[in-house]
Amino acid sequence: MSDEPMNLTIDALMTERRTYPPSPTFAAQANAQPDSYTTDADTFWETEGRNRLSWFKPFDTLREWELPYAKWYLGGQLNACYNCVDRHVEAGLGDKVAYYWEGEPVDDRKTITYADLQHMVVKAANGFKSLGMTKDSHVGVYLGMVPEAVVTMLALARIGAAFTLVFGGFSAESLSGRLNDMQCQFLITQDGAWRRGKVIDLKGTADAAMADAPSVTACVVLKRGGNEVPMTDGRDHWWHDLVDPQSSDPASCPCEPMDSEDLLFLMYSSGTTGKPKGVMHTTAGYLAGTSTTHHYVFDIKPETVYWCAADIGWITGHSYIVFGPLVNATTSVMYEGTPDFPDKDRWWEIIERYKVTVLYTAPTAVRTHMKWGPEYAQKHDLSSLVLIGSVGEPINPEAWIWYRDHIGGGRTPVVDTWWQTETGMILITPLPGLSTLKPGSASRPFPGIEAAVLDENGHEVPPGTGAGYLVIKNPWPAMLRGLYHDDDRFKETYWSRFPGVYMAGDGARVDADGDFWLMGRIDDVMNVSGHRLSTIEIESALVDHPEVAEAAVTARNDAITGQAVVAYVTLKGGKDGSPEKAKELRDHVAKVIGAIAKPANIVFTPELPKTRSGKIMRRLLRDVAENRTLGDTTTLADPTVVSEIQARAQVEADKEG
Ligand code: WTA
Repeated sequence: MSDEPMNLTIDALMTERRTYPPSPTFAAQANAQPDSYTTDADTFWETEGRNRLSWFKPFDTLREWELPYAKWYLGGQLNACYNCVDRHVEAGLGDKVAYYWEGEPVDDRKTITYADLQHMVVKAANGFKSLGMTKDSHVGVYLGMVPEAVVTMLALARIGAAFTLVFGGFSAESLSGRLNDMQCQFLITQDGAWRRGKVIDLKGTADAAMADAPSVTACVVLKRGGNEVPMTDGRDHWWHDLVDPQSSDPASCPCEPMDSEDLLFLMYSSGTTGKPKGVMHTTAGYLAGTSTTHHYVFDIKPETVYWCAADIGWITGHSYIVFGPLVNATTSVMYEGTPDFPDKDRWWEIIERYKVTVLYTAPTAVRTHMKWGPEYAQKHDLSSLVLIGSVGEPINPEAWIWYRDHIGGGRTPVVDTWWQTETGMILITPLPGLSTLKPGSASRPFPGIEAAVLDENGHEVPPGTGAGYLVIKNPWPAMLRGLYHDDDRFKETYWSRFPGVYMAGDGARVDADGDFWLMGRIDDVMNVSGHRLSTIEIESALVDHPEVAEAAVTARNDAITGQAVVAYVTLKGGKDGSPEKAKELRDHVAKVIGAIAKPANIVFTPELPKTRSGKIMRRLLRDVAENRTLGDTTTLADPTVVSEIQARAQVEADKEG
């Protein structure tokens, strides 16, 4: 395979040899015991499916595997909301806290029990139904980290309406693209969302999106920011007008029996081509996979106070803030705002207040806290923590060790969990209490998962030798069921490179002990602060600007965000760029995709390096961005272009640095 992506992290990863064997006290009480998984994958998932979920009608067939299509728990009927909420109340857990919710403005707090959650969900579901929503409806959700985001997801699951929840940082165009692709008839949003002490206008963005998404005929607006928003007569409804007067009696809105394979939600994710892919997740397998992994990986106990600090708009939020934890009747913390509001110790204050026992976050957040310094954590009592986790990108050993020492008190296991929007659930991870931890390694496949690393020719790379393509060889319950309305792309993206196995798109190696080391994407997908962005999406956004002739986007390593976006841009008419133009282009990308996609650097260049057949040589641009010695330039149509770009990139770097 190409050596490019491998350069990113391998040296850093493999130089660290320190290992952390499990502590005997943790091991003795751990959910994962050596005999937790003594059978084959089918028996394991059969048992988890029967015991962890409640069925209106039990399944009769564990799974069907007609490559590349898997179906799980066939013949069964269940409801996601019932499994997350109602059955816990019926079992006497109504007074148990489901969420300690904390708004960004200080002192804005809510404790929501399972009984409260049930009432909120039933009212919302009744409100949604009064607008004509049914099991066949498709619903867009554009909400921030408010309790109503969870309530909305559960209410929709209760009704049986499939939804797509779009991250609040996405632009109107990104939102309308998703609403149109899924043909949503409804949109649930809020006036404004708190972010670092300010209110960000979400309704304005939603309005602009709805102007381009004619399928949406009704919109529900939650009042949160208190900002002035226009309401369109006949289309827009305030949440409080619609939902508050509704009945909260569960009998007034029974949970719709759904088939195991009924669509639960779509999560749009960046791929290697311009248009985001609608990753499909269905009901039973997704619930079984997320809740089972949640139980073992985070060692969830009845008294656990668990905090997944991701945003609900990403798959991590869906699987490990909402569905996995709620199926397990977990007490969670949910926080609305940024980690530095009003000061940089907000997270640690929250952990101290609620005596959080499990924290799950991303390497980019860990590195940000590292940069701010350990003194913010030291101000607070974090001794309640028993386990900490990481997800979203490779965690460099330095950050791993800092995280364990300064947040985990040098005491807790660290679970570095590898998975994807497509996998729905954690697939490669340590099992706390069982695994010997190595900073930078995600350890081994979860029980029942067969992962491997293949070389260019599809042969398995033996442990302890080289790197290659990460693949999964057998189906798992929460795996994607396809890409919405795009079967060809589904087959092409994941199943065509190596017949018979799922290709994840990540590079990896397995060490001599059998531990996996993830090495970043092998395709044109970048990972900025744990957010997946595709080079082509950003290139299309740049070229969409009237003055841009051509653009090529690549990534460079960044100490905090993992990767950062670098754009090389040629303006029309051979015009020269300027700092003002660079700002204008950044803003344009934010407008088209969202602020998360803004290039960190823009290098203006009269020409892009191309092969004689006219292909942009991204590898060279990556080398320039990384300040590496350049690879082979002999196939370039005009080799002088590169030195020109290098010189300009240097000027850029000097200006910024
Ligand atoms: C990367 C996030 C290394 C990987 C749940 C994957 C990781 C992409 C890890 C999926 C990890 C996620 N170590 N890399 N522990 N976790 N990744 O779809 O490149 O937003 O393909 O899902 O993140 O990102 P996605």
